Amino acid sequence: MDVQALEAEAQRTIAAATTLEELEAARVRFLGRKSELTQALRGVRDRESGMALNALRERLDAAFGARQQELERAVLEAALAEDVDVTLPGERFPRGHLHPITLIRRIVEDAFVGLGYLVRDDREVESAEYNFDKLAFPPWHAARSPRDTFFLDRDRLLRTETSPSQIFELEEREPPIYMVSIGRVYRRDAITPTRYPIFHQFEGLAVDRGITLADLKGTLRHVMRALYGDERQVRFRTHYFPFTEPSIEPDVSCGICGGRGCATCKFTGWIEMGGAGMVDPQVFENVGVDPEEWSGFAFGCGLERSAQLRYDIEHIRPLWEGDLRVVRQF
Ligand code: PHE
Repeated sequence: MDVQALEAEAQRTIAAATTLEELEAARVRFLGRKSELTQALRGVRDRESGMALNALRERLDAAFGARQQELERAVLEAALAEDVDVTLPGERFPRGHLHPITLIRRIVEDAFVGLGYLVRDDREVESAEYNFDKLAFPPWHAARSPRDTFFLDRDRLLRTETSPSQIFELEEREPPIYMVSIGRVYRRDAITPTRYPIFHQFEGLAVDRGITLADLKGTLRHVMRALYGDERQVRFRTHYFPFTEPSIEPDVSCGICGGRGCATCKFTGWIEMGGAGMVDPQVFENVGVDPEEWSGFAFGCGLERSAQLRYDIEHIRPLWEGDLRVVRQF
């Protein structure tokens, strides 16, 4: 084999390669497994020609490497030299989406912040003292049973309502008080079109001098209008809660059936929004507020139910399933 002639030809071919593909083809031709040089190296018998051939391979290797760098740089420079129109629109980022419960939460917060209420957020693991005792639940009340409530141990439970926030607020601050508390609550309920074992509530508390039931009704109508507009009807029924006296329940006319009756409204034409009432004097006494000087009202309503009413969602369940096909509709 003529080492010099081979080297001269290889160097010429390397220099003549103008693309990375051409260079790679040349590499296969001169250094590949079937190349003349590789075959010759395999057949070497004496030390001297072995050294000469190996030295040739190293020189060619280096020449290929250097030419490859040159060609790569040329490719990069050509790309950089191309005109870039910086005014063209960029790639669109996929935008996230607020969950309907978050949308409702914001409507409620806005409505109450507009009235001068403070917004608070309390713990979900609660003591029986704050979930029941201080709210004047009698010892025999059904909600104290592990059939109705998720207990963690004898005294600790997953709060069944946001009403403990009333106690925290009353203990932390002197009246006048205007606060709304929003968060998750838990009940051992079977799933129905309007019930789910986890849901959200917004809880309101107003304590001042001379507060009456008329203030409560006006405040509830205000937030109902913010949530559902002027079209829906609102009515109040009397009810019982351990921590309010008198107690009422606000209902909103069912938008799914237009009030004619359907499974979502249990064929009554109305959907119960939650509970409300005038703060029971016993609660004031439990937290050391003088019921002769101060009066107040409280209310608690479900966010899921509000979302169902605002957006005419027949079943509560999809609100907890995280299916994007559902969420994207809002
Ligand atoms: N905590 C009650 C419930 O979850 C609602 C309520 C709140 C009633 C405040 C009266 C006053 O059913």
